[in-house]
Amino acid sequence: MRKQIAAANWKMNLTLQQAEQLLDNVISRPYNLTGHQQVVFAVPFPYLAMAQEKVKHLQHIFVAAQNCYSKKSGAYTGEVSVEMLQSLGIEFVVIGHSERREYFAESNKFLADKLDICLEYRITPIFCCGEPLNIREAGTQNEYVAKQLEDSLFHLDEEALQKIVIAYEPIWAIGTGKTATSAQAQEIQAYLRSVLASKYGSQVAENISILYGGSVKASNAKELFSQPDVDGGLVGGASLIADEFAAIINALK
Ligand code: PGA
Repeated sequence: MRKQIAAANWKMNLTLQQAEQLLDNVISRPYNLTGHQQVVFAVPFPYLAMAQEKVKHLQHIFVAAQNCYSKKSGAYTGEVSVEMLQSLGIEFVVIGHSERREYFAESNKFLADKLDICLEYRITPIFCCGEPLNIREAGTQNEYVAKQLEDSLFHLDEEALQKIVIAYEPIWAIGTGKTATSAQAQEIQAYLRSVLASKYGSQVAENISILYGGSVKASNAKELFSQPDVDGGLVGGASLIADEFAAIINALK
């Protein structure tokens, strides 16, 4: 079975003390995680070392950065390299979140470069894609998201592609409380898998975890994750509440 992942995206929230408390609360609970299930905490840069220290001895639980830069090192004031993340033991990075695309003008091509450098340093990118409301209303979401995949992923070979996790996050569902229905999530995620299959073959496409993101919470996680092409979630708001996120972890299939 491909990996099923509950990923917390804390975004730009929490003080150090709050972050420690939340992480301790969530990871100290008993979970029955099996070999194909993973929990990932995408924390703000200043908390990576703290979080990594807390989870490094735990099986199934990992820390992610929320972003990285596309260059190896050098005069890029304020940026964080993948080599720095690797030196902390970080194993995942969120790439191309819609907030990065929107507020920081990150293009599909720029994201392709970030994916390359992550893979070079053996860090798993959680590559985000998803359409804005006007595209959904026009009914062209499949083409829109397929193009995001084509532009950022299709230069990769089969082996590299299988090292990526995809998170489908319709922008109209992020932080709005408006979740895609499980049928909507399943429909487009099955389509995205078919797009991958048409380029890489169905066996490769079957191996790739595709998470759903956008107002996932304890009350809808089980239903969303039960869909055959929904392999867990990337969770913003609800990941800041320990009970909510713990329930989301328990909803993994
Ligand atoms: P949300 O955010 O769960 O608060 O909608 C999801 C995300 O942006 O990753």
